[in-house]
Amino acid sequence: MYLGVDYYPEQWPKSRWPEDVRLMKELGVNVVRMAEYGWHLIEPEEGSYDFSVLDEIIDRLTENGMKIVLGTPTAAPPSWMVQNYPDILPTDRDGHSISFGGRRHYTVNSATFQRFTEKVVRKLAEKYGNHPNIIGWQIDNEFGHEKSDRSYGNEDHTAFLFWLQNRYESLDAVNEAWGTAFWGQTYTDWKQIPLPLNVYQQHNPGLLLDFDRFCADGYTDYSKLQADLLRGNTSGHQFITHNFVFNEQAINQRDIAENLDFVSYGNYPVWGSSTEPATPAAIALQHDICRSTKDEKGFWVMEEITGAQGWNHTGYLPRPGQIRLWTYQAIARGAEAILYFQWRSSRFGTEQFSQGILGHDGKPKRKFEEVKETIAALNTFGDDWIASEYIPEVGMYYEVENAWAWSIQPQSKAFDYKQELHRFYYGAYHLNSTTCIISPESSLDGLKVVIVPIYFLTDSAFTEKLKKFAADGGTVILSYRSGVKEPNNALTELTLPGELAELAGINVDEFEALQPGQQTRVRGTTGNIKDVLSPATVWCDVIKCVSADVIGVYRDAYYEGEPAITRNRYGKGVVYYIGTAVEEYFLMRLYKDIFKEAGVKMLELPDDVEMVLRTDAGGRKYLCLLNHSTTASHRLTLPKGDWKDVMTGDIFNGMVRLPSLGSYVLLQ
Ligand code: GLA
Repeated sequence: MYLGVDYYPEQWPKSRWPEDVRLMKELGVNVVRMAEYGWHLIEPEEGSYDFSVLDEIIDRLTENGMKIVLGTPTAAPPSWMVQNYPDILPTDRDGHSISFGGRRHYTVNSATFQRFTEKVVRKLAEKYGNHPNIIGWQIDNEFGHEKSDRSYGNEDHTAFLFWLQNRYESLDAVNEAWGTAFWGQTYTDWKQIPLPLNVYQQHNPGLLLDFDRFCADGYTDYSKLQADLLRGNTSGHQFITHNFVFNEQAINQRDIAENLDFVSYGNYPVWGSSTEPATPAAIALQHDICRSTKDEKGFWVMEEITGAQGWNHTGYLPRPGQIRLWTYQAIARGAEAILYFQWRSSRFGTEQFSQGILGHDGKPKRKFEEVKETIAALNTFGDDWIASEYIPEVGMYYEVENAWAWSIQPQSKAFDYKQELHRFYYGAYHLNSTTCIISPESSLDGLKVVIVPIYFLTDSAFTEKLKKFAADGGTVILSYRSGVKEPNNALTELTLPGELAELAGINVDEFEALQPGQQTRVRGTTGNIKDVLSPATVWCDVIKCVSADVIGVYRDAYYEGEPAITRNRYGKGVVYYIGTAVEEYFLMRLYKDIFKEAGVKMLELPDDVEMVLRTDAGGRKYLCLLNHSTTASHRLTLPKGDWKDVMTGDIFNGMVRLPSLGSYVLLQ
């Protein structure tokens, strides 16, 4: 298994390099990623290439037995390029050019920037494409991050019009798809179509969603440009990946992943002034999303947090044990390699407060020891743990275009896409069921339950898939605001929940968005939720049952007694509809009934404890136990049989005690 660090040798005097490499060896590192911000090093002036700095550090790492992942350096176009070719710069929504001085200051639609990219990537590939010790490439760094996904300049406009012509072929088709009769926006010439720059009100939602698709496609093409150059100029033993960010930015990670060997991402449960890390469920959800990006293929954590992070604010310091715990959690959920961010805290620049394994003083201390122990522990498994399989039974729908549609029209100030995903994921996570993320293209084979929350932008092929899944005996959980929109971001003409009405056995004729601070209540009427009350926020659907039964009702002056949660038999399966944002604890109780009936394996453990089981081809089981609490230890019962701690040789059976932040991998 590859375990390594993200290293920025260019930030330190060469006289320090031998000590860095000596300490990396002591740490047990077998891979180093570097150079993703190194364009200025290899092309200090236009057209004059100098690989001496990179060569020197590559040689040193090679001599010391470490493999290397090289970044293509396009996330940091050098100062000479911006000075001489300001047309590479992106433009913000106000029409202002983004300045040099940060990173990611380019637009993928700049012909000049594409030309420079081609040259530098080709040069790098020709130079290092046969190097036996360089095992792979990371293209660029975090496409679209920090608002670099959308650019509104002249070249972007031309490219957008070209993209629209390709997609729609005729202006009539654009006018129809966007419904430009509204507010008299009919276009009679392609050039009249604007970029979504500032207007007094809001742009047409159809245009906005297409603009996001266009921006995402631009990055997909740009990534492919680099991937093709690397493939064409390297010897074949090197992989190609990209470290993604997963949020509502206009980036289509699944499309980009088609041209990558595997995907990577950075695991940062803490950022800036956070007072607490992200919840364990939120971290697990990110891992699941990452794993789903290339259809359940293993991924790399190219940057794994080791300390407090931030620019001008810095917050929560991961507690002793937390680096190891988050490392184990990532591997249990599909990571096949971990590289710790970063080797040493920078002394200069924007990220002075993003801590490394070593602090600014460069001395190995507590974090160094924790990473060292973690690497040693992981080495006891060789590649066996990562080769074992995680078999999901519960799929949750997540799709970037839907996320974009929600960002365009959140409908309630209380709505946050990630928070709503978390709401519907939490119960499945806490019941320790095996989860995965599904997109419209995913196969549903092998899944027992499919959770499809806030499925706003409807895809008919996926709806058909859901119908078949339910008809064949699967269980589907739908939520409020599903089936509302067509792919062009227009409202459906059907009675809500649109294409899903028959599946859910209900009609939704009226609805209301609840704003922050506003809430109503829901009372369960059956099973585990019988007489359980939950606050209900964000949204209220007024549901009329057609063939569905009511299993939860509103408690509210206006909605009193009206259906809030329903259940419908569909073929051999069952379909639930949850018409309002009930609390996570309430959903967990409901899921317990649903999962039980669907035959999903669950394990009820103390709240802070996560247990992830993987099995290898020979039937060997790897049980990862994680206590996320920073203060409480927990007692819990292991699944049946003897479980061995490979590190110590200890055998456990039955009840075990997990100290706070304890993390173990036991074998059976
Ligand atoms: C991202 C980037 C890194 C760094 C870290 C945070 O993941 O890829 O270069 O900025 O965040 O410190």
